[in-house]
Amino acid sequence: MNAAAEELKRRLGGLAPSVALVLGSGLGELAGEVEDAVRIAYGDLPGFPPSTVSGHAGAVVAGRLAGKPVLMLAGRSHYYEHGDAAAMRPALEALAALGIDRLILTNAAGSLDPDMPPGSVMLVIDHINFSGTNPLIGEATDRRFVGMSEAYDLRMRAAFLKAAQETGTALHQGVYMWLSGPSFETPAEIRMARIMGADAVGMSTVPEVILARFLGLRVAACSIITNLGAGMSEDELSHQGTKDMAPIGGARLATILRKLFASEALA
Ligand code: HPA
Repeated sequence: MNAAAEELKRRLGGLAPSVALVLGSGLGELAGEVEDAVRIAYGDLPGFPPSTVSGHAGAVVAGRLAGKPVLMLAGRSHYYEHGDAAAMRPALEALAALGIDRLILTNAAGSLDPDMPPGSVMLVIDHINFSGTNPLIGEATDRRFVGMSEAYDLRMRAAFLKAAQETGTALHQGVYMWLSGPSFETPAEIRMARIMGADAVGMSTVPEVILARFLGLRVAACSIITNLGAGMSEDELSHQGTKDMAPIGGARLATILRKLFASEALA
């Protein structure tokens, strides 16, 4: 077991979560709902990333959500912070060593569909890696050739749809395209993304999904829509706009997640 996994195990005591949740913009407050919470700063966990993005904390928060053991990663590392697509690898390896077998990722994203406006939530059913890089570049074993034809777990997706339906919360489904950022897209890039089959664009999640599949974890991901893509509205895009809008979709996604954890689907 690596050093971070050992430290996590020691600090978690008897708690043995099998599900981890990565909190993107708009969901940070969910960490405050964790019962019997143990909070561990990334700085205390060897290999965990420092976060340089405002609106992103850097801590593991473990405990119970709706009675079920859970481990939350409040804060992630983005490729655009340093150019290292594998920055989350040590953290995800530690989770896998700890016994986590399912990973739920959340993010803020721009919508390419006028019928999926800001405030919507989109369950990711597939992705397009448009960054030109991959977190497994440099992995020297044949394990690097990870199959991605069903990256987003069907059973977890069904559980999300059921939880959304049971709470009367609208949940879109679509394809997420990863572009490196940190600049937002141009209107021409947004038109390209639509033609290529994407429904939303964002700057995270895809490298974590690839790493998680490499590590054998089952994966689900949800996007909180904070804006229409560049050129689709009058608004100039900004990080402040993302942070201002994220709590709206974030509240919807939190409703779905509470129900998901209360259900037997994640047992
Ligand atoms: N583009 C990329 N990433 C984003 C956006 C966007 O429009 N909105 C929130 N994250």
